[in-house]
Amino acid sequence: MKGIILAGGTGSRLYPITLAVSKQLLPVGDKPMIYYPLSVLMLADIRDILVITTPGHLAQFQELLGDGSRLGLNISYATQSQPRGIAEAFIIGADHIGDDQVALVLGDNIFHGNSFSDVLLRESAGLSGCTLFGYPVNDPQRYGVGETDADGKLLSIEEKPARPRSNRAITGLYLYDNDAVDIAKNLRPSARGELEITDMNLAYLQRGRARLVDLGRGFAWLDTGTPEALLQAGHYVRTLEERQGVRIACIEEVALRMGFIGAEQCRRLGAEIGNSDYGRYVMTIADELVGA
Ligand code: G1P
Repeated sequence: MKGIILAGGTGSRLYPITLAVSKQLLPVGDKPMIYYPLSVLMLADIRDILVITTPGHLAQFQELLGDGSRLGLNISYATQSQPRGIAEAFIIGADHIGDDQVALVLGDNIFHGNSFSDVLLRESAGLSGCTLFGYPVNDPQRYGVGETDADGKLLSIEEKPARPRSNRAITGLYLYDNDAVDIAKNLRPSARGELEITDMNLAYLQRGRARLVDLGRGFAWLDTGTPEALLQAGHYVRTLEERQGVRIACIEEVALRMGFIGAEQCRRLGAEIGNSDYGRYVMTIADELVGA
């Protein structure tokens, strides 16, 4: 399965913070926002990853992540010059996807939960059509909203409905079979001129090939769209990290635990930024594994 992180957009709800800096590079806790969606793809055992960003922000992402080889990944880049919708990612990324399946994650979505890797591996192994992930929220009218039958088969999906039929928001993580590329190419732009991800999901729903998996209680799906939400997400992450002494979305640790890199490489990556607590944590993780 190939991965795509969509890190475009203007982040206008965060102006002036995002006038000069990409939203997906802003700090959440002690690391850049994109570390969170990147770690989600890594936990799904995906190593070929395309980052789609704006032409103006491309160099910053390349400086941060490079070609990914330091993490045992293969990261490439493409740009979306205008905000033409989330589903355009499959057209921009058509060559990257090739004849494979694809996982798309929005670069501003933060997921955290127990055994998430198991959920991702199970869902990608059993993928047929598309799999979406639902999460109960207080304000479903701000999101894509889905309804399912008892088996998790998707019955309806609406984008930002005024009167939501359920409180299950569709999160920004989507697994698709290879039909995604053709479906995206045949989508018509919506009234706001965008290729909507919800129309893409509707196409799968109409074929009876869309599933919605509930992430449910005990799981965190956090918003980063406004200054308040961004601060709350940072507090959530730091509260858990300080209490437990672990780190969420530490990409070096994930690479090590997934077997993408060895302990020596992990230690080296930590030492390079060893002046920070984050860097020292990465070194400790590497040492613990060697000592174990
Ligand atoms: C997009 C999707 C929406 C989804 C949300 C998740 O909305 O269109 O269906 O629920 O991402 O973050 P946006 O945040 O672009 O308004």
